[in-house]
Amino acid sequence: MLRIGPIQIANPLVLAPMAGFTDTCARRIAKKFGAGLVYSEMVSAAGLVRKQPATFAMLAFHPEEQPVGVQLFGADPKELAEAARITQDAGAAIVDINMGCPVKRVCRTGAGAALLRRPGRVAEILSAVKKAVTCPVTVKMRLGWDTKELSVLEISRIVEEQGADALTLHPRTRAQGFRGKADWSWIARLKEERRIPVIGNGDLVRPGVCVEALQSKVCDGVMIGRAARGNPWIFAQTMAMLSGKAPSTPSRELRYKTVNLHIEWLCTQYGKEQGLRRARFLLFQYSRGLSRAARFRQELVSADSEEVLRGLLRTYFLG
Ligand SMILES: Cc1cc2nc3c(=O)[nH]c(=O)nc-3n(C[C@H](O)[C@H](O)[C@H](O)COP(=O)(O)O)c2cc1C
Repeated sequence: MLRIGPIQIANPLVLAPMAGFTDTCARRIAKKFGAGLVYSEMVSAAGLVRKQPATFAMLAFHPEEQPVGVQLFGADPKELAEAARITQDAGAAIVDINMGCPVKRVCRTGAGAALLRRPGRVAEILSAVKKAVTCPVTVKMRLGWDTKELSVLEISRIVEEQGADALTLHPRTRAQGFRGKADWSWIARLKEERRIPVIGNGDLVRPGVCVEALQSKVCDGVMIGRAARGNPWIFAQTMAMLSGKAPSTPSRELRYKTVNLHIEWLCTQYGKEQGLRRARFLLFQYSRGLSRAARFRQELVSADSEEVLRGLLRTYFLG
């Protein structure tokens, strides 16, 4: 069972924070198909503190997604503490601090994976954030800056000492980006060394791999990223396998219904024009691995009205 501070998570399956994807709509979809905990895409602490409307708009939640974790990025302890308070007040159940983002634009400001090189700063951040909120605080991190600087053990010790309630490890270095394999031996190592819950992340591409990670007890929870985009069924399939049942493949009808529901939520959240624009990108994900996907995607690009788009969906998923 996964427990983060006082929050008992319904099951150990977690949706990873993914910029441009894990908005309130995607999180609700993941929840609907069995995720126990969902995280927002990373939100700029500076943007929240400076009250930037676009950043504030990212703090939109629906009751169905709770408990929801909001991930903040930043490098300044005071700013992160203030942003954490704003986030908690807005309704987040958990605040997460990003210590893994490899993107240059983020690292240049000292945030994301750059924090893995600054143990003192990590302690200041955790201490300030913990004082600012009453909700649980989690950290998501990588192994270190590069193979010469594997700071995971030191940073995770500090994170624990400063009162973090759980830790997620994506066991690649900043330099690796998404290349190579996630080294799960580090997750097992962290689970041995730390007392707080450890959530394992990286390359969990099929339900079977998630089940294996949980049953071997190398971690307390599994966080699924890329494999959940356009494929929320991975949560239900993993849950089925955990209870000894065979996982079922979603029918084309179920895919069609889910896609439509997702689009409906996007249009409600962002208005029709932006909602449909976002939907187009998502449909690439929802058709991944399906037959005739290449043709469908080509047609999507040239679909210039809602009617055409809806017609394409019907033909593709039901035709
Ligand atoms: C498009 C994309 C956006 C991401 N955005 C974030 C983010 O905002 N915060 C974060 O901590 N990780 C982010 N990640 C990393 C994922 O949370 C996760 O650690 C990584 O994808 C490895 O897990 P996976 O193999 O299950 O995808 C992102 C990954 C992708 C592919």
